[in-house]
Amino acid sequence: MIVEIEALTKVYEGKQQVKAVDGIDLSVQAGEIFGLLGPNGAGKTTTISIATTRTMPTSGTVRIAGVDVVQHPAEARRLIGVVPQYNTLDRSLTIYENIYYHCRYFGFSHGQARERSDELLTQFLLAERRKAYPSQLSGGLAQRVQIARAIAHRPAVLFLDEPSAGLDPQSRLAMWNAVQDLRKEGITVVLTTHYMEEADSLSDRVAIVDHGRMLALGSPQKLKETFGAQTVIHLALRHLDQVESLASGLRNQSGVQNVEVVSDGVRVFSTSSEGLLQELVHAASPHGLRDIAIAEPSLETVFIQLTGRDLRE
Ligand SMILES: Nc1ncnc2c1ncn2[C@@H]1O[C@H](COP(=O)(O)OP(=O)(O)O)[C@@H](O)[C@H]1O
Ligand SMILES: [Mg+2]
Repeated sequence: MIVEIEALTKVYEGKQQVKAVDGIDLSVQAGEIFGLLGPNGAGKTTTISIATTRTMPTSGTVRIAGVDVVQHPAEARRLIGVVPQYNTLDRSLTIYENIYYHCRYFGFSHGQARERSDELLTQFLLAERRKAYPSQLSGGLAQRVQIARAIAHRPAVLFLDEPSAGLDPQSRLAMWNAVQDLRKEGITVVLTTHYMEEADSLSDRVAIVDHGRMLALGSPQKLKETFGAQTVIHLALRHLDQVESLASGLRNQSGVQNVEVVSDGVRVFSTSSEGLLQELVHAASPHGLRDIAIAEPSLETVFIQLTGRDLRE
């Protein structure tokens, strides 16, 4: 295990005590892309800040490749790369210099730093912009520079805090590709996000966190199976007088797990909507079928089942 978090807690002292992390245990395997998924305030940034030596834990331990981050912070920092949620590029330096000085800080000679910076600028398709300053870059490009800089000293683990916050959809997809390429280089990635699509499409495993606690852990597929996230088919009807009998009829359909009567019709929970839709339309049409909405199973529906709340703020 390349990252081991044990019984981690963090209480922020102040006028009001805030228990930001409330007993988190988790391990990340080498080579994994691991997602911490949770709403704002869940404790994701605090967890990452402790793992990356920016914040002291109240109790518990974090080890990176066996190195305790509190006892040996300098050693730990060589093993990790960090892309914080906000742009931390040095605005007085060019893109090239941002990466170059990062390498120098980690003990590279002038020649090694120059070679590594050139290599990264090529790899991240930034070579033409090497002399640009951070203020001249779009959000997507700045994010790419931040990732290139974070891995410049060849860390074993890269921590990305909300990597797509503020990015347009196209830059987000480019960032996802860049993260997937890191895996090919053998870099382990730990990312936080409150976008369930991002956790779902990028992560090998996801920890769902809320109020500083971990509610569930597993591959996105496994989480959806375990927490019974189902396809939800909402049938809106014009005539609601015999909706109960429609509902009980639908419960006997194969593929249907459950049917709820709602204010404007029925909600059908199914493990697979394959072939079912036609049956539903047929059964509902005498009741004046007005509209159909289909929600596929997702980490969003898993989160709702775990907490009764929506992931979005
Ligand atoms: N420096 C701080 N001082 C006091 N409270 C903080 C501080 N940083 C975060 N918090 C609080 O800790 C909780 C977790 O925050 P954070 O780790 O930023 O969550 P997330 O990244 O999941 O949004 C929140 O209630 C937040 O307000
Ligand atoms: Mg955060």
